Amino acid sequence: MEQTVQVDQAFIQPQEHRPRPFVSEADGIPLIDLSPLSSDSVNTAVPETLVAEVEAACRDWGFFQVINHGVSPELLRKAEAAQRDFFALPEEEKRKVRQDEQNALGYYESELTKNVRDWKEVFDIIAHEQDEIDVVGLVLKNKWPQVPLGFRETFEEYTKSVEKLAFRLLELIALSLNLPPNKLNIFFEEANSLLRLNHYPPCPNPDLVLGVGRHKDPGALTVLYQDSTGGLDVKRRSDGEWFRVKPTPDAFIVNVGDVFQVWSNDKYESAEHRVSVNSEKDRFSIPFFLQPASRTKVWPMEELIDDKNPPRYKELNYGEFISARKDGNFKKLEVENIQI
Ligand code: SIN
Ligand code: FE2
Repeated sequence: MEQTVQVDQAFIQPQEHRPRPFVSEADGIPLIDLSPLSSDSVNTAVPETLVAEVEAACRDWGFFQVINHGVSPELLRKAEAAQRDFFALPEEEKRKVRQDEQNALGYYESELTKNVRDWKEVFDIIAHEQDEIDVVGLVLKNKWPQVPLGFRETFEEYTKSVEKLAFRLLELIALSLNLPPNKLNIFFEEANSLLRLNHYPPCPNPDLVLGVGRHKDPGALTVLYQDSTGGLDVKRRSDGEWFRVKPTPDAFIVNVGDVFQVWSNDKYESAEHRVSVNSEKDRFSIPFFLQPASRTKVWPMEELIDDKNPPRYKELNYGEFISARKDGNFKKLEVENIQI
């Protein structure tokens, strides 16, 4: 039966990229228990079984979930409540902290992914002590709303805690590539990391739209908290089949981004993912994007290169890297094709 189309044409996905009917209900990305990690540094022994689990997850999926990760459930509840309260504000209140031409941080509700509008509204925060970053000469500063009360303090605390987890994961993934555990952390002494609050409202035509269209994340790692609604779909590397990530209470979803693909010289791939929406429930998620500063160089790690595995990517700084992938053509970064 033809369904009545109630959403604006700008949101409608081309037929081949619509979310249904092809999301598998089977178990998808692995769930990894981080309780064997001590709270400080990976310099203390990490069980080989944990490293092996991380290695398999990164190789086969580029995605996994973690539990017992050290971020307190109370903090997760606090962040979730602040996020809901912010998005429940009247439009005119949210617009007071709207992104503008000078500043890409704050609130916005119209983003295109591959030229189709995403069914969501967003609030972006620089996850950085100084509350501002320098993106290729442009200084961006956080916009904090006056209400809900305590919004800024909550997300500053949240960012600190999740960033700490991201660094532990970075060490763990370095170990899984047989690299020294602290090899990659130095690339974030200066960083452009970002915290994003997403709200996906219910949609009358969930089969025709996406909350976020299919894409890969550009940075090193994404550490994402999602509520119990569900909707994140991940494409499996081996066969291109889509799997829904089952919400696990208090877990984080971790994925390696394009920077890891380059560092690992394609041993790990940045996986395509998207967000499906539904007709009944709002969905909220909070991704933390661990990203290097624009002038930080990105190249395949020498330890992973030999005669059989020549470098597949040329050294670029992260700013150049972002420009080269802007049109989604990641192949451009390959050594033989690179043109900058
Ligand atoms: C994203 O990939 O940009 C968002 C993922 C999510 O909301 O689950
Ligand atoms: Fe993403």
